Amino acid sequence: MSEKDILILAIESSCDETAAAVVKNGREVLSNVISSQIELHKLYGGVVPEIASRKHIEKINQVITEALETAGVSLDDLDAIAVTYGPGLVGALLVGVAEAKAISYAKKLPLVGVHHIEGHISANYIENKDLEPPFLCLVVSGGHTHLVKVQDYGVYEILGRTRDDAAGEACDKVARALGLGYPGGPKIDRLSAQGNADAIHFPKAKIADSPFDFSFSGLKSAVLNYLNGCRMKGEPVMEADVAASFQKAVVDVLVEHAVLAAKETGMNKLAIAGGVASNGTLRRRMEQACAENGIAFYHPSPIFCTDNAAMIGAAAYYEFKKGVRHGLDLNAVPNLKLGER
Ligand code: KG4
Ligand code: ZN
Repeated sequence: MSEKDILILAIESSCDETAAAVVKNGREVLSNVISSQIELHKLYGGVVPEIASRKHIEKINQVITEALETAGVSLDDLDAIAVTYGPGLVGALLVGVAEAKAISYAKKLPLVGVHHIEGHISANYIENKDLEPPFLCLVVSGGHTHLVKVQDYGVYEILGRTRDDAAGEACDKVARALGLGYPGGPKIDRLSAQGNADAIHFPKAKIADSPFDFSFSGLKSAVLNYLNGCRMKGEPVMEADVAASFQKAVVDVLVEHAVLAAKETGMNKLAIAGGVASNGTLRRRMEQACAENGIAFYHPSPIFCTDNAAMIGAAAYYEFKKGVRHGLDLNAVPNLKLGER
């Protein structure tokens, strides 16, 4: 006899996407609605927290209604409500958390708070039905660059992390210096396709005694210095070459560290997650390196790499099955650590 299906409504509002999704049994996405605020924040060159919170309040009910309608379910069909409660912008997180608590209270539904990065990692479960822990995951987003050993569902060991800027943050800052606008990652990705990645040599930071840690601020400064140098000398800037050379330096380090970590920990499964995981060059290079080293490579489709609620529903399913429940005192935790409850 098959177990009863578990239907979870998941909410994500940690940054500049208001998102809701209905997920069945952790891996089947019945709906995935994302209202992006990018156009609004573009005007300011980055996310303005106060504007993000206000926009989440405006959009959240609409997004949830659409997620339920698309999935063809009502609140009465649900088994639980899941919500990102950290890390992220406190005002933005609070909108999702308050909404989830209200639904949980009104419909007497169990509430499951989810760590945003656990959500990103769990995005890999959606399309890779056979992927099960243990595996290694490189999480690369706007706020995080983590090499994580997923020992079991919800059990994580952080092997390495960035010492300064996150990979996405470095992309955004370099894109801004090139006048490409926000968010920079996709623009660097596109412009790089027209450039020569070997045109300029940018440094790749290695951290002594911490082979799995990352540092991107030196690279970012090198690009800014290069651009300044060109301007001072009155030389034209070959923007596509700068973008491609910078992207190569980022991708080289990400691939090298992830593959080294896989080899040293004896892991033969490597996944990527987070907004930067939608980068075309990173995906190709990782695939190649994994094939050369006999490692199975997993990645979500781009729509599940950047912020979305389906990934929160996937993570929540495994937490729910383990009996994790949060009370109505659940609060937003802007600096929540992975593995904390
Ligand atoms: O995971 P995400 O949507 O939000 C966070 O949790 O931070 O990641 C957003 C980050 C931004 O820094 C954005 O520039 C970067 O992911 N990004 C990319 C690409 N698409 C998004 N970076 C490189 N290449 C891309 N195609
Ligand atoms: Zn994210």
